[in-house]
Amino acid sequence: MIEVGRLYFSYQPGDKWILALLVVTVICIVSTVGSGYFLYASGEYAGYLIDQHFWGGVITAFLTLVTLAFFIVFWKSCRQYGPYYVALIAANIAAIYTGHLGGSVTHGRDYLSGYLPLIFDASVSKLSRPDSILMVYDDYVAQIFESKCTSCHNDQRAKGGLSLGSYGQLFTKGQSGNYAVAPGMADYSELFKRVILPPNHDEHMPPQGKTPLTKDELDLLRHWINLGASDTLCVSQVADTTTLASIIKDLDPTIAQYRRSHLMAEISSQNLKAELETLAAKLQVVIRQDSLQGDNSYTLSMLFPPSTFGLDQLKELRPYFDYFTRVSLVSCDIDDAALYYLSRMKNLKELYLQKTKISGLSLIYLQKIPSLEILNLSFTEIDDKSAIDLLDFPALREVFLYRTNTSNQVIQALGKYKPELKIYSEEGPYF
Ligand code: HEC
Repeated sequence: MIEVGRLYFSYQPGDKWILALLVVTVICIVSTVGSGYFLYASGEYAGYLIDQHFWGGVITAFLTLVTLAFFIVFWKSCRQYGPYYVALIAANIAAIYTGHLGGSVTHGRDYLSGYLPLIFDASVSKLSRPDSILMVYDDYVAQIFESKCTSCHNDQRAKGGLSLGSYGQLFTKGQSGNYAVAPGMADYSELFKRVILPPNHDEHMPPQGKTPLTKDELDLLRHWINLGASDTLCVSQVADTTTLASIIKDLDPTIAQYRRSHLMAEISSQNLKAELETLAAKLQVVIRQDSLQGDNSYTLSMLFPPSTFGLDQLKELRPYFDYFTRVSLVSCDIDDAALYYLSRMKNLKELYLQKTKISGLSLIYLQKIPSLEILNLSFTEIDDKSAIDLLDFPALREVFLYRTNTSNQVIQALGKYKPELKIYSEEGPYF
């Protein structure tokens, strides 16, 4: 920018300043690439994007050094600055491209292009449809549920026996035995009773820690239920003077925000699905959506007959670890080193490791997974010493230890100290 200023505007900061700036830049870039190298060499990150990001960094550092060198040479000799400008532009392009690759590593490959259409899509940023076709339920009430309730109340996960995913389901009874919505009677609707409780009340919805409904949202629900909770009520039918009309007006910006967030979430989950499909094809494994756990949860398992799947292949999945809820690595070419990586899958619920080369020395790593419920270690070299580590698994319910080096005494002791843990001496399931 300084160079643009010098060339096209009469901004003349003096060559010494430019030299100082270039030296500082070189120091920063070289140290960044240096520390990046240690991360890269540690093997914690792996894959094609990381390789490119790393080499992009090296090229950027090199070009910055060349820029500095040209600058010094041409400054001292007071000759043409041409080569310096070329190197400067090249270094900038390399820096932008490398930075973009870095962004893709952390946020996924399509993090820019995926959202771009959204920014330009006015229909998402505003409720631009005319009032005559806006519906109170579809365009307002349902948006609120989707934003604040359906993560727990959907068809796969119906907490309290209640799903709020579709209109018809609002008029069903949950575990309490009361109708969630009783048309015309907000005060008798379980749903409304829950949302107006004091936020710290045990039965308040959404539960503590989640964003409660705002006053406008509560008012909208109350009015809509009292007016009969219809799904055909149009915004245009609500006379301008009524309270409902003014609440709806006030809610417009909030609802537009919800719609934007839903759309972004949808786009990123479609991108995620596509990326995982590509990776599954490359690694020759099966990656499927875990329908029991929700849209962004996935299972990993092997094809039959299995292809080679070892530590390197596991590392390639690293950017996606958070999305795996069930993983089956039966007969894979992995040993204890893999347990460290598996322990990073912090949403993992089931892990099948039978017939692998695991000795159990690093089993302790898996204690870090807060939600791990089922662990299959049959046909491995697990012995008594490592089996004791199972006592400190926070959520473990079932473990399979068929044909391991564990003794009956230790298995009995485990059962005694952790009675909620079921220990099976059978091969156990996999998928
Ligand atoms: C973080 C998860 C979570 C969120 C978000 C959440 N709920 Fe719940 N909800 C629960 C759980 C768990 C129960 C069952 C325990 C209980 O009855 O308190 C429940 C129970 C209910 C019930 C009682 C069902 C019955 O008849 O027993 C209603 C009604 C309800 N929720 C409505 C809502 C509404 C409306 C929202 C959004 C404003 C919401 N919930 C958001 C977890 C959640």
